[in-house]
Amino acid sequence: MQRVIFNQKGGVGKSSITANLAAISAVRGRDTLVVDLDPQGNSTQYLLGDAWETATSDAAQFFSDSLSIRILPRDPLRYVTPTPHEGLHVLASSPELAELQAKLESRHKIYKLRELLSKLAEQFDAIYVDTPPAFNFYTLSALIAADTCLIPFDCDDFSRRALYTLLENVEETRADHNPDLSVEGIVINQFLSRANLPQRLVEELRAEGLPVLDTKLSSSVKMRESHEQCMPLIHLAPRHKLTEEFVALYDELEG
Ligand SMILES: Nc1ncnc2c1ncn2[C@@H]1O[C@H](COP(=O)(O)OP(=O)(O)OP(=O)(O)O)[C@@H](O)[C@H]1O
Ligand SMILES: [Mg+2]
Repeated sequence: MQRVIFNQKGGVGKSSITANLAAISAVRGRDTLVVDLDPQGNSTQYLLGDAWETATSDAAQFFSDSLSIRILPRDPLRYVTPTPHEGLHVLASSPELAELQAKLESRHKIYKLRELLSKLAEQFDAIYVDTPPAFNFYTLSALIAADTCLIPFDCDDFSRRALYTLLENVEETRADHNPDLSVEGIVINQFLSRANLPQRLVEELRAEGLPVLDTKLSSSVKMRESHEQCMPLIHLAPRHKLTEEFVALYDELEG
């Protein structure tokens, strides 16, 4: 299962949700890979910490290779770095991804990630792809490579407007490149259960027939703490309310 976490709006929780769901997947005994396509590298930093510097290969190396060699190397695991958490690996980001983008676009390398992930899917039970806050080469590559798309949403009116464009982008990608792509759902992040507006927004989205997931994620300072300590919530605070919500989200997605 290859799942992309995407919203072109910044700061809605893509990286936090990617890393935490992947960590739960690994704890549940599935060999899990996080692919970080955002040059900011937030999920890489979160999962690798200082070890990021010692990663011998990364996503930029893969895309750079795809410019110079026609056939993928036999062992795609060479691009992957283990995290300190058992069963959890990362295809690390790099700031070089930003520099490579124009070249990759002009050389039409949009299907290369799909090739890589379909090879890596033989080695991993689950792949989670974190994307940058833009609908760009990397995001499109990810949507082309994925089976499903999970959309974090922060219950704000600007985000709601952006949601319709986002769903159109996903629909267009499905029609043009990847008939297997499905929208897995919209996950409400930093939900304020006591405020009126978020409740109303969620009800309106549901009434419009949008696939809002039942599990909502609360806002908690534990998330910042978890980033700061480079320790996903399931390891840092297994009994915390936010962790339990992530586990519920994982179970809702995995059925
Ligand atoms: N449930 C939560 N509770 C508290 N803080 C949160 C929660 N989810 C995300 N945050 C905080 O919100 C900020 C943005 O989260 P994150 O980096 O995961 O979003 P993003 O969509 O990946 O951002 P970008 O678009 O920049 O890649 C971070 O500071 C993170 O700690
Ligand atoms: Mg991010």
